[in-house]
Amino acid sequence: MEAPKLELDFTYALQAGKAVQQIMQGAAAEERQLADELQQAWRTLQSRQGAGNDFLGWIDLPGRTSAAELQAMQARAAELRAKSQVFVCIGIGGSYLGAKAIIEALKPAFSLGLSGGPEILYAGHQLSEDYMHELLAYLDGRDYSLCIISKSGTTTEPAIAFRLLRAHLEKKYGKEEARTRIVAITDARKGAMRQLADREGYTAYVVPDDVGGRFSVLTPVGLFPLAVAGIDIQALVQGAAAEAADVAEAGNDWKRNRCLQYACYRQWCYRHGLGVELLVNYDPRLIYMAEWWKQLYGESEGKEGKGLFPASVSFTTDLHSMGQYIQQGPRMLCETVLSLAQGHAVVEIPTDAENGDGMNFVAGRRMSYVNAKAEEATCTAHSAEGGVPVLRVVLPTLDEGVLGRLIYFFETACALSGYSMHVNPFDQPGVEAYKKQMFKLLGK
Ligand code: PA5
Repeated sequence: MEAPKLELDFTYALQAGKAVQQIMQGAAAEERQLADELQQAWRTLQSRQGAGNDFLGWIDLPGRTSAAELQAMQARAAELRAKSQVFVCIGIGGSYLGAKAIIEALKPAFSLGLSGGPEILYAGHQLSEDYMHELLAYLDGRDYSLCIISKSGTTTEPAIAFRLLRAHLEKKYGKEEARTRIVAITDARKGAMRQLADREGYTAYVVPDDVGGRFSVLTPVGLFPLAVAGIDIQALVQGAAAEAADVAEAGNDWKRNRCLQYACYRQWCYRHGLGVELLVNYDPRLIYMAEWWKQLYGESEGKEGKGLFPASVSFTTDLHSMGQYIQQGPRMLCETVLSLAQGHAVVEIPTDAENGDGMNFVAGRRMSYVNAKAEEATCTAHSAEGGVPVLRVVLPTLDEGVLGRLIYFFETACALSGYSMHVNPFDQPGVEAYKKQMFKLLGK
């Protein structure tokens, strides 16, 4: 069954929403330049002639990922599942955020893993010594396997983590068994990790040359750890393929192309002086989806002095902290809400005869009803009273198919938004600056 579609709701998007809707109706003289630039961005993406065009492999990726490839990954993943209480994903940035976002979205809140699968832990995404010490101690008493994910194969943080964890694993199981518990995901030819994987005979999957780190969640970078976790990667890829088909069919039609509409909304906000886009969730399962999204947009657009700063908040939690700033601080924010239409469980609020807490006004209601009202109320307060444009991206439910759609939607909109600002959305030259300074200090 095809994954249900995402919907964009501009009800609370104020002038930004009106502008997008006028453009969608074709009557937008004052928005002509914005509309033209986004149409040009669409043509640039389609022609594959724009900046960074050697990194456009993500566009056709869902459609060209075969069931056989996915099954082979699932079979190898099953071997590791069978003998691992813990699976450690080593990687940073685009090499771990996508998998973590999907696992966090689908994993039961109070279970270590998904239905009988191993607990998924992460390493190589920072340099904390205490974290590593505690991780190694935790692994002392557990059966585990490792996955090292690095496209370049030379990134410092995962390389250090892998050196430590490989040594721990080999000491625990011996070199032969350790070899069967390590999977490498890296470049087909280049990089230290490729050489090591070939030399040691690790199972190795390839990060395609034409897919950059932050666009790589639907390659083995995301798919293999997800398969180990027990996520249905076939449904995830099918969801992304369905979104890709919708986008291709919609073409440059403003009324049908959700990616163009979202890119237009955020560009309108940016061009009208708003500096920060908040990705908002009303469910903690989506916190890491925002972390993935922040990397996607921050690294793709934040260059040449341009770009909305991507930030995130979790509601209603942050309504009791950041809510004050959003409501009354400097008017530099726009919001994009991940609005979940339907959860999985039913929890009704009971009636209390004494009504000591005064909460009987919601007795008999489901928690999702109260959450939905909190979302509606917050959208109104922030937009109508606070002047903050709020776009809602409605997710019909939270499953693999919908998440596949969401990933592809955000990736395409990101490329369009970046091209419309005349930046290369597929490079990240600024990331080198800290590395240069660090290597100087470390004497590399
Ligand atoms: O989007 C990117 O290219 C980066 O965020 C990378 O994913 C990150 O730096 C990790 O790189 P690598 O996979 O080469 O270790």
